[in-house]
Amino acid sequence: MSKKLFIETLGCAMNSRDSEHMIAQLREKEGYETTEDFQDADLILINTCSVRERPVHKLFSELGGFNKKKKPTAKIGVCGCTASHLGEEIIKRAPYVNFVLGARNVSRITEVLHKDKAVEVDINYDESEFAFDDYRTSPYKAYINISIGCDKKCTFCIVPKTRGEEISIPDTLIIQEAKKVVEGGAKEIFLLGQNVNNYGRRFSGDQEKVNFTELLRRLSKIEGLERIRFTSPHPFHMDDEFIEEFAHNPKICKSMHMPLQSGSTKVLKDMKRGYTKEWFLNRVEKLRTECPEVSISTDIIVAFPGESDEDFADTIDVMKQVKFDQIFSFKYSPRPETEAEHFKEVDSEVASDRLSYLQTLNNEIHDEINAKLIGKTYRVYFEALIRDGYVSGRSDNNIVIKVKGSEELLGTFENVKITQIGRTILTGEILA
Ligand code: SAH
Ligand code: F3S
Repeated sequence: MSKKLFIETLGCAMNSRDSEHMIAQLREKEGYETTEDFQDADLILINTCSVRERPVHKLFSELGGFNKKKKPTAKIGVCGCTASHLGEEIIKRAPYVNFVLGARNVSRITEVLHKDKAVEVDINYDESEFAFDDYRTSPYKAYINISIGCDKKCTFCIVPKTRGEEISIPDTLIIQEAKKVVEGGAKEIFLLGQNVNNYGRRFSGDQEKVNFTELLRRLSKIEGLERIRFTSPHPFHMDDEFIEEFAHNPKICKSMHMPLQSGSTKVLKDMKRGYTKEWFLNRVEKLRTECPEVSISTDIIVAFPGESDEDFADTIDVMKQVKFDQIFSFKYSPRPETEAEHFKEVDSEVASDRLSYLQTLNNEIHDEINAKLIGKTYRVYFEALIRDGYVSGRSDNNIVIKVKGSEELLGTFENVKITQIGRTILTGEILA
């Protein structure tokens, strides 16, 4: 009987891909199969996120729960960003943890598995050529890493400390991987990096200089590949050439993530984001002029240290001007070893009020945008079976839509007319 692996993945898409890598290694080299039930598992992995403080606290309570109810022989490993930044401390606080494996070291999963109390968290380790492994959760779309780490020094962000410096993966390897997944039946690829449009700044070996725009051009030539998505681009690197390629290349999905963080030029400067409120608005205008159908999502941090009422009003002003299709909003959370860690924090009640004000406004904007979608038709790529006999998929501009249907729809494109509006998912009918 094969050994069983339970893996819980927190955080971003890069973590999801890292989990796929670990699953691939454990299947190939150690004969593990995945299970949904941790009590049935021989190995329990938590792939952690440390971007904000709360998930870190949750980790320890969760570990305690796993330890109490797991099979007595089962091992527990803590992987990912929290593993990178807490390292040995995890084993000190939870001595039953068998090993700790950093976000930049996931390729070594089968090594640490056999070394009790191993702590492998070297953030200089170059895993860039290991970014492709043969396990993918979905046969319809494939995550493909294009770079690892991040070279920016946003003062609030722990990622450069957990994932190390940025290294781009050679374009020839990315193209080869994309061809392979397309031959395997996927029609969509999802390019991943912490700062994708900084692609090409540094490679680990000698390599022709290729920037992100050129990488997109090259990938879009692959026959059978229909859709290209990517995350996350940085507003600072959104030059005209990139926006024009995005807008006019038919294989690139018309959905752009533009992490604003703050609408105040002063706060952006304190965050070391490298752009101003005006630059951000100018980029949105350029994008919408070139590509009127684009949907734009963003990340916003409220109550960054020193954020005044006027600064917050600037963020609200940008929200009202841009009317983002989707906003991920967070209260600022001080992170260890970041520059902002010791900045004086905004009063926590003020921070909560700002977050709820922003989220209420966002819901209003969202409802207004959604109400206009009824009766519209989108080309949907179906990806997942969901409850009650529905199949869900996404439009090119990233609207999630469900229709009545079954397995035959998976991996196909259909024209769908929106019939019903919901907050997270819309309902539609396939047009004959
Ligand atoms: N380059 C990555 C950033 C990863 S962090 C990306 O764009 O996906 C994802 C988001 O978490 C950031 O955009 C930011 O909005 C939020 N975030 C990061 N550090 C934070 C902190 N200390 N407090 C609150 N939110 C934070
Ligand atoms: Fe973090 Fe800024 Fe890089 S948000 S991941 S340091 S672009």
